[in-house]
Amino acid sequence: MSGLRKPLMLTGLQPSGPLMIGNYIGALKDWVGLQATHESLLMIADLHALTVPQNPEVLRRRSFEFVALFAACGIDIEKSAVFMQSHVSAHTQLLWVLNCMTPMGDLQRMTQFKDKAGRRAMDAQVGLFDYPVLMAADILLYGADLVPVGDDQRQHMEFTRRMARKFNSTYGQVFKIPATCTPRTGSRLMGLQDPATKMSKSDPNADNYVALLDPPEVIRRKIRTAVTDSGSEVRSGASKPGISNLLALYAAVSGERTESIEARYAGKRYAEFKNHLAERVIDFLGPIQKRYRSIAGDWVLLGEILRHGADLARERSETTLARIYEAIGLVTGRQDDRRISSPRGSTRGQPPDFPVPSPARALPKRRNAMGTEETKELSTSATAATNADAECLSDCCVCCCCDTEEECRMEE
Ligand code: TYM
Repeated sequence: MSGLRKPLMLTGLQPSGPLMIGNYIGALKDWVGLQATHESLLMIADLHALTVPQNPEVLRRRSFEFVALFAACGIDIEKSAVFMQSHVSAHTQLLWVLNCMTPMGDLQRMTQFKDKAGRRAMDAQVGLFDYPVLMAADILLYGADLVPVGDDQRQHMEFTRRMARKFNSTYGQVFKIPATCTPRTGSRLMGLQDPATKMSKSDPNADNYVALLDPPEVIRRKIRTAVTDSGSEVRSGASKPGISNLLALYAAVSGERTESIEARYAGKRYAEFKNHLAERVIDFLGPIQKRYRSIAGDWVLLGEILRHGADLARERSETTLARIYEAIGLVTGRQDDRRISSPRGSTRGQPPDFPVPSPARALPKRRNAMGTEETKELSTSATAATNADAECLSDCCVCCCCDTEEECRMEE
């Protein structure tokens, strides 16, 4: 991995189903581009995947499959660290700290929770309810500058930033406020069979998505049977959700603008457009599938990638966790913490006089979430980085620091 002078990007993908084209276009594609300008931590969010029932064997196999697919999609394992969320215990430790600061109402309002729990919120698992808090922990532990995600994660990002600000204003500047970036095209691909719902890898109906490893004949069938709209024009618009979605897919795999695709298919039939789209998708996925096949069986390599990633993630996250614990008044027990938390003027037999951290301003202001020397360089080069939102250096995607206009106004 390169030095820490570059801004840090962190992102994750849960192995809750086969990696599909929406994940590639909405997330992975940008990760590949951002590797050049950012230091990259890429996490397989296996703990998040447990929020829906999983077959243990399938989950294990799929986790390795994801590592191989990351590499096949262009993640450079020399540049980026890939790790399993469950290999780094600091995630769940910070989860608990953040849980203790999270109002239930905030989580009840989360769109994804409402969608998944439906009307039976009281029967939903606590893990599903708590999902955004674990995601906030994932991000804040590393002092990420940038989090590239699809559109569906924007609300979780907004929540993450809110939690970071809340923590900082209570205990002092510990967390960096991460920016979000979403792709310009394809940030929310919809289901092929149901264009009213998001394309999702955990959809029980596999015809709703194209998996990255689907063979050509399956891709042809899935696109041929994709739901279209009344009328026959290949044109994007609110009244044509099916065709609009297929056009977005076409634009994402071809790199063409929607308008030029519409112009090419003016007067042509849906069937012809769909046939061409299927071939485009097959051509697009072909090289990824070929690279995947050359890596997938190499268990030693895949294990090595994960070990290396986990070592790096552990090292960083534990430093942050110690700073968090210190800020909130827990005794960390680390040797090098004695300076901070050893009893002041205590003598044997007397109760120790631990320094009491006074809230907010008493703590150093310019701390960021990672405690290493190099990180200090990063924080000085981006002086206001702890609270001013980081910027995405890539023009592949739309970057923002406030997810809603309302939040932007509150910031002013
Ligand atoms: P997950 O696994 O659902 O999705 C992974 C990434 O793919 C994007 N995505 C889509 N993009 C476009 N169209 C779609 N239909 C589509 N479906 C999914 C998602 O937006 C996401 O970027 N909570 C996260 C995983 C996570 C995470 C994190 C991400 C856990 N911790 C920390 C970033 C940072 C999730 O469930 O992603």
